[in-house]
Amino acid sequence: MKTLDDLLGEGVSGRRVFVRADLNVPFDKANPGVISDDGRARAVLPTLIALRDAGAKVIVASHLGRPKGAPDPKFTLAPVATRLGELLGSDVIFAEDTVGADAQAKVEALADGQVLLLENLRFNEGETSKDDAVRGAFADELATFADYYVDDAFGAVHRKHASVYDVAARLPHYAGGLVVKEVEVLRKVSETPEKPYVVVLGGSKVSDKLAVIQALLPKVDKLLVGGGMCFTFLKAQGFEVGKSLLEDEMVSVCADLLEQAQGRIVLPVDVVAATEFSADAQHDVVEASAIPADRLGLDIGPKSTELFASAIAGAKTVFWNGPMGVFELAPFAAGTRGVAEAITKIDGFSVVGGGDSAAAVRTLGLDETAFGHISTGGGASLEYLEGKTLPGVSALEK
Ligand code: 3PG
Ligand code: MG
Repeated sequence: MKTLDDLLGEGVSGRRVFVRADLNVPFDKANPGVISDDGRARAVLPTLIALRDAGAKVIVASHLGRPKGAPDPKFTLAPVATRLGELLGSDVIFAEDTVGADAQAKVEALADGQVLLLENLRFNEGETSKDDAVRGAFADELATFADYYVDDAFGAVHRKHASVYDVAARLPHYAGGLVVKEVEVLRKVSETPEKPYVVVLGGSKVSDKLAVIQALLPKVDKLLVGGGMCFTFLKAQGFEVGKSLLEDEMVSVCADLLEQAQGRIVLPVDVVAATEFSADAQHDVVEASAIPADRLGLDIGPKSTELFASAIAGAKTVFWNGPMGVFELAPFAAGTRGVAEAITKIDGFSVVGGGDSAAAVRTLGLDETAFGHISTGGGASLEYLEGKTLPGVSALEK
């Protein structure tokens, strides 16, 4: 796999470099257009700065959200271009389309050392199409923009999308520093984790995490389960869960996992149960075995947080993916905060697996440097740990 350093060594002054970034940042729900966590934009800065300072014409592309293959103003990257410019300390030119007249003209007009951001890749059906020919046709258009392709979108390497997979096949291709670092860390954690190895999983659905749980069970000393997905496990343990999130069709699978794990899967013993999904809802700590029928669990309780923290305390390796509760709402943030703080204190190596958990670390004001590595990829890091081939990585290896 060739890397950005190889490309810089070859010299890029005056050359056009297409950088696939993952600028799929979260926005503040209450303030449209306001980015709530720019971690992913900051993570790609070293690559953009290196190329800009080496005199390349830098064409950056990303997806944002899941628009349906056509322009949708809700998912414009315009605010991200502004933020990227602030972070870079130099203007970022924004193209109002991805491969249309505006993008073509602006790519053509780029001067050495200028940075251009294309509009959302997913405004084009070719980006995510399952049809190789449709994706290929879009990739052909993207590839005409540049001499070289750099992939630094670790968060999207698990997607077989035109800008991730097919453009790499059409141009000399290089892995950006972020992709190199992420893959190196995840390889270390999955191949040679120092023991005890504790994994903390949260998030809403067991079905999303089933494959990773199955892959990790033989390797871990403890698997701590919180978040919305813990209720399906609690149900499998024979408890009623009231109005909490529940995947009925997964209950028997969870029961099998619990049996297989022989005590290594640790579930909450208490939860914060609320009358409704709202920061103002009445809420109380209840035993996990006694969730009232008219309540829903929105966080793990204090005894569980302590239980999880003590399991984490002795670990040499911790991988954490998924919040323990609805941390965006203050009354339900304590579980996520407590677990995150416990992870920062270990005498070992910790990895925060992307997406919501990485956002939680920053939103809750925790010290990012206290973690070993904060991944920019949620789904991508999970699929790596599942042992799946990541299309974006394999495309760079070819
Ligand atoms: C993410 O946020 O998980 C990545 O940016 C990939 O986005 P996606 O899940 O919509 O493909
Ligand atoms: Mg995702």
